Amino acid sequence: MSGASLVRDRVEELLAGPRPMRIVQAGDPVLRQVAEPYDGQLDDALLGELLMAMRATMHDAPGVGLAAPQVGLSLAIAVVEDVWPVDDDVAAARERTPVPYRVLVNPRYEPVGDERVAHYEGCLSVTGWQAVRTRWRSIRLTGYDEKGAPLDEVLHGWPARIVQHETDHLAGELYVDRAEMRSLLAPENAQRFADPTAERAATALGFDLP
Ligand code: NI
Repeated sequence: MSGASLVRDRVEELLAGPRPMRIVQAGDPVLRQVAEPYDGQLDDALLGELLMAMRATMHDAPGVGLAAPQVGLSLAIAVVEDVWPVDDDVAAARERTPVPYRVLVNPRYEPVGDERVAHYEGCLSVTGWQAVRTRWRSIRLTGYDEKGAPLDEVLHGWPARIVQHETDHLAGELYVDRAEMRSLLAPENAQRFADPTAERAATALGFDLP
């Protein structure tokens, strides 16, 4: 059996399963594999169906990004979309600007400049937990969209963070791998100690910001 037919079979199996799709949680080895590059293993109709199901699953969670390994598919595809309402002060502190729905195929990023920013971040595969993660403030994103058109653009702030997070998933990483563990915020504390800049948390919990 060829690699392409294995991918097709797996996608058909996932699409025959529950909706929203089940989001794989930390500890499942699929999250730790380097995702197989996408090179046309799926025909347009099946790829379209997969992307619709992933987008609906991301909305339902709710989240701002979902990588294929998070639905149990080791393939280098992710969806991102951030059009949720956010308080102005939080948006300003995090440079959070809306991200219209888009698909990342075989994405890569590299830093633009050396400025780094630290913010609380979460992941649908580490449900409810948050931790401060330092990321590049600006990146150059390359790769492809779902139609095979090449991407090459510079992103800043929160949109750059989302792309870094999702691209890292495809390399078998989770944000907690390089998060500030002293900042770890349990689900039951998420509201009470929410901190848009992480400055209060840094003082209260005893860690340094970049
Ligand atoms: Ni994630």
